[in-house]
Amino acid sequence: MKTVKPNFKDILEFLYQNYYVKPKLSTVTSSHWEKYGETLTVGSSSADSTMHGFGFGNLFKDTLVNRIKHIPDGILNRGLLNKYCKSQKIREHAAHVLARHGRIADFDSVKQAICANLISEKLPGDLKTIAVIGDGFGFMSSLMKLIYPNARIISVNLGKVLMFDAHYINKVFVSAPVGQAILIRSSEDAADRSYAFGFIEAENYHLLKDVDVDLFINIASMQEINMAVINSYFNYMRFGNGKRYFYCCNRITKQLPDGSWIEFFRYPWNGKDEVFLDELCPWYQKWPSNRPPFWIHADGPIQHRIVRLAKRDNIESAISASEQEKKS
Ligand SMILES: C[S@@+](CC[C@H](N)C(=O)[O-])C[C@H]1O[C@@H](n2cnc3c(N)ncnc32)[C@H](O)[C@@H]1O
Repeated sequence: MKTVKPNFKDILEFLYQNYYVKPKLSTVTSSHWEKYGETLTVGSSSADSTMHGFGFGNLFKDTLVNRIKHIPDGILNRGLLNKYCKSQKIREHAAHVLARHGRIADFDSVKQAICANLISEKLPGDLKTIAVIGDGFGFMSSLMKLIYPNARIISVNLGKVLMFDAHYINKVFVSAPVGQAILIRSSEDAADRSYAFGFIEAENYHLLKDVDVDLFINIASMQEINMAVINSYFNYMRFGNGKRYFYCCNRITKQLPDGSWIEFFRYPWNGKDEVFLDELCPWYQKWPSNRPPFWIHADGPIQHRIVRLAKRDNIESAISASEQEKKS
């Protein structure tokens, strides 16, 4: 593959200026993320020492104190990997991402390695474009690039959080550039096929309709997105000419701070979707903790599904349907 130095620097500067220096109101932020978004602070476009964010995964720095503090959950996390992540290669890739981030393994990274292992077992074959919706510290995006080095990876997130994804993806690949990075802000950008990493601000998520995606991944994110926005996501995801596989792993029900309920089984699934897996996620009903009783139970059951989304051809009807859904 041609080695081009990624232009992450410009993307990070753009996101910093647009979401931290002169923040805009976002129309796709749920009441959950209005609350969490307030806690994010970034002091520059480049230094991770000035970036602080909560709500999209843990990041325990690799220090002696943290290594000691997290011995109990470390043992349990290793047990989960042994049980559910049979691919040694994927475990090595995950360890590489963690090392590049300068952090120790935690459940968020272990969970994503296990999901990646499942995806690679259930969907063998070529995946040319993979879109991760609602990543955290760019972990899944980086992992997928290492597992599928020839694939284009698209990361979609709220502009404020996308800055963290882009920054941490850059940390993984800066010393071994894999190709160009672009911020997709128009249909013309979306038509570009030359990049290794594409970033889409959730504020522009309609651009997903212009990309032919083979696999979408959404872990613990739709459960924090408004139902109207979820409906539109599905419409845009159904439109592309890619394979349109979707790995979706989310709480069956979750109440947002504004009182609305987000329900997995009420996402706009379609009878024509081809279902490859549909069950309670075996490794994600509870997770390790470093304090007794050493397991934290989720607030509600978490379901995961692998489907091939049925295609929707007419984007006009898709958009008007999603507008109707927003009104109802
Ligand atoms: C709980 S975190 C999950 C992070 C990671 N996927 C994991 O499983 O550890 C939820 C993620 O959803 C993202 N998110 C919230 N609203 C979104 C939207 N409208 N579009 C895309 N991502 C969104 C958040 O910024 C965050 O990255």
